[in-house]
This record gives sequence, structure tokens and C-alpha cells, in this order.
Amino acid sequence: MAFVRAASTNDIPAGHGALLDVKGVMVALFNAGAGRFHATSPLCPHEDGPLAEGWLEGDAVVCPWHGFDFDLANGRCRVDEGLTIAVYAVRVVGDDVEIDLP
Ligand code: FES
Repeated sequence: MAFVRAASTNDIPAGHGALLDVKGVMVALFNAGAGRFHATSPLCPHEDGPLAEGWLEGDAVVCPWHGFDFDLANGRCRVDEGLTIAVYAVRVVGDDVEIDLP
């Protein structure tokens, strides 16, 4: 596990996500505003929907395809508890957003 620079804090508008290739690992990075970011695996485990095109609702990310939402603290789906996504720790260092990749 190591924090790796993934983006600049200005790269993603607040409230939006982006699909990033971070050292060969595809990651969905979301800007929650106020200097807060969240990083998850990029595909929804329901039917492989693009999570980076989804949106944040409180402490969850919502898949744009069928609306399943995933808790950003533990990756668990709130619609189907058998589904999970990976959630990565994120830190902001200056203007850089860094993700703790496995
Ligand atoms: S593919 Fe994400 S909710 Fe269906």
C-alpha cells in the first residue's frame, strides 16, 4: 500500500467523478467538495456500470445505470448487500490528490 498522486485538486469539478489510470490501476475518483475526495474501483459489481459517471449522495456513490448505491466507508452496496466495491484511502497534499493503492 502506498499513496500515489492521482490528480490535481482542480482536475475534477466538485460533485463529479472521473475515471483515472493511476499507475496501471483504474480508479474512480470523486470530488465531494470542500477539499474532500473519494476513490473507488471503477466498475459497479451489479452489471459493470461506470461508477465514475455516477454521483455522490451523502456518504455513498450512486451507479448511473440502475441507481445502486455504495457506502464510501466500506464499499458495501445498500441495495444488495452481497455486492461490494473497493474503497481506497485518499489524501490531499498541497494541490495533489493521492490515493492509497493496494
Ligand atoms: S450496473 Fe450499477 S446499478 Fe446496475
